[in-house]
Amino acid sequence: MSEFTVKTTTQEPDLPTAMQVIYQWNYDPEVEELRSLYVKAAEAQWIGTKDLDWDRPIDLVKFSTTPLSAGVPIEKTSYWRSLSEETRSEATRRTAGFRLSQFLHGEQGALMVAAQLVNAVPHTDAKFYAATQTMDEARHVEVFARYIEKLDEIRPIAPSLKGILDQTLQTGDWMKKLVGMQIVVEGLALYAFREMRNLTEEPLLKDLLTYVARDESRHHAYGVQYIERCVPCLGDRERTELEDFALECARSLIDRNAQGFFTTLVQIWAEIGIDPNAMFASLHAEREELTRDLPRGRRLGPVQGFVIPTLRRCGLLSERVATHFHGFLKDNFGSRVAGADVEEFLQYLPDLPADTAQWVMGEIQ
Ligand SMILES: [Fe+2]
Ligand SMILES: [Fe+2]
Repeated sequence: MSEFTVKTTTQEPDLPTAMQVIYQWNYDPEVEELRSLYVKAAEAQWIGTKDLDWDRPIDLVKFSTTPLSAGVPIEKTSYWRSLSEETRSEATRRTAGFRLSQFLHGEQGALMVAAQLVNAVPHTDAKFYAATQTMDEARHVEVFARYIEKLDEIRPIAPSLKGILDQTLQTGDWMKKLVGMQIVVEGLALYAFREMRNLTEEPLLKDLLTYVARDESRHHAYGVQYIERCVPCLGDRERTELEDFALECARSLIDRNAQGFFTTLVQIWAEIGIDPNAMFASLHAEREELTRDLPRGRRLGPVQGFVIPTLRRCGLLSERVATHFHGFLKDNFGSRVAGADVEEFLQYLPDLPADTAQWVMGEIQ
């Protein structure tokens, strides 16, 4: 073990943040649904070192079933099929190492935002719930770090994710913290955990994601139930600001033109001999075919399939902001995915699942 120091060599420079701390003298339950979510969370606590069987080595053959989830259907292209099995399996391992590293750093951000919410939210029930979430997030940081160290190496945080975490930590507005973290970042994470959990056949990863995703579906419920209560109390200007904050967070995570995750993934693939030009040429040539039979009204990706439906449910999807969302989704994924115009986009936007926890476990669509 390295020697203890007060200033560590691995820490970032201090990040100045704005936050109003609120005392609350009413200790009686006031927001009943948040009080019961808090009790549910307390009952569902688990222990990272005990409840997962860490003695199992990672099964690399089964690991190759883990989806790439690169945002574009690389694994359906003829170029991907032309690669050797060894290259494909190495690409899968490294891609997962990168994605799990982003989950890990995102979990650290969630840990710090949840702790801030204990101070910043005005209702006792919401402070209590944020306290259980803080505990959950500490455990998530612990188990993701441990798994990645077995699999690959911890890779640095993507600049786009760091930017959102910084903004969410720095804003003085607790509702923006809830929207940035519980709705956008955790909505995207929940979608990704679900996909990875349900498709991977690697037993330790599947177990880990089962535990984590159950916690995350509660974190998402906290954001939805709390914001849903708050939005009707807001003036137009405040609501517009919240909508714009959600839009900017989602855009910076997804937009490929804005140094999203994808740029780093391409570099990781190039390290093992995957030719980005050939891959993109294949993707481009086959795009029509790959998107021809996309079903309408299905959950086509995390923003359109989950984050935007969450915003609509919370009362944060005006036609104004829907037009901006449609514009950037169309630029990134084409009109077959996003719809030709905003009317078509809204017409096929799915509702949130009836039960998010069941949806995450693949029990309902
Ligand atoms: Fe988490
Ligand atoms: Fe979370």
